[in-house]
Amino acid sequence: MEQPLAGKVALITGGGSGVGFAVARLCAAEGMAVGLLGRTAERLAAAAETIAQVGGRTLPLVADVRDWPAVQAAVERLVERFGRLDLLVNNAGVSGRATVDETSIERWQETVATNLIGAFHCAKAALPHLRAAGGGWIIGIASGAAKRGYAGLSAYAASKAGLVLFNESLALEVEADRIKVSTIILGTVLTDFGTRTREQKLASRAAGERFLEPEDVAHAVRYLLTQEPRAWTQELNLWPGPAGPSPTR
Ligand SMILES: NC(=O)c1ccc[n+]([C@@H]2O[C@H](COP(=O)([O-])OP(=O)(O)OC[C@H]3O[C@@H](n4cnc5c(N)ncnc54)[C@H](OP(=O)(O)O)[C@@H]3O)[C@@H](O)[C@H]2O)c1
Repeated sequence: MEQPLAGKVALITGGGSGVGFAVARLCAAEGMAVGLLGRTAERLAAAAETIAQVGGRTLPLVADVRDWPAVQAAVERLVERFGRLDLLVNNAGVSGRATVDETSIERWQETVATNLIGAFHCAKAALPHLRAAGGGWIIGIASGAAKRGYAGLSAYAASKAGLVLFNESLALEVEADRIKVSTIILGTVLTDFGTRTREQKLASRAAGERFLEPEDVAHAVRYLLTQEPRAWTQELNLWPGPAGPSPTR
């Protein structure tokens, strides 16, 4: 089968777990080389190993997206190793539930610094390389909390709403460079993210609550990467739906 993305290079932040890992695995399966960026070396090494076992090319990059010099160094390492950069997925994120009264200054700042400023750091470091490659993609992973407020999620909602408008602004700045900037807004995914573990979410699913799987997000990323050059998806809203028809039957 034709692999239009083969030979391209991706950087996935938060690539060691959950949604980021699913995106990284799919990119590697499409023939892309993949940099997996996160703070936890063991988690990144395990993810890289899993992808390598099925023939994928990966590079674990230990860095904190809040740390601008560390992000710059990680992007340089990736480009040194694989020669180019075509895709950045700004997926790294933290959450946590606390009211404004309860939350510490540090926790609120950490959420915005990771989810919003971290995405800015990664985009700024990636842009020269995307331009050098003749164009590319920047995809931000946001949340339904970017669109409406939730009690106890003020930092998370503000950071993700900021990411949406950061991406909208950046898209206009770089469209002439053939760089497409898109945001995927997600409903709840079956990962350990947030205040419930994957196990707890599975129990809720058994009781009727709907969830996305990380692979659903990876498929949405592939859709964005394989659109015709003339088409641009600014924002994609991905919700867990009622059971629909199977694509394979
Ligand atoms: N799961 C959901 O229900 C849901 C819903 C809507 C949106 N999302 C979004 O989806 C994205 C991925 O979440 P997930 O569900 O896959 O959860 P996850 O498994 O907890 O993934 C978050 C990833 O971000 C990395 N990370 C966190 N802080 C970082 C930092 N400062 N620097 C570098 N990496 C950092 C983590 O790795 P380290 O801790 O090792 O650094 C981890 O790999 C997040 O942006 C989240 O907001 C999730």
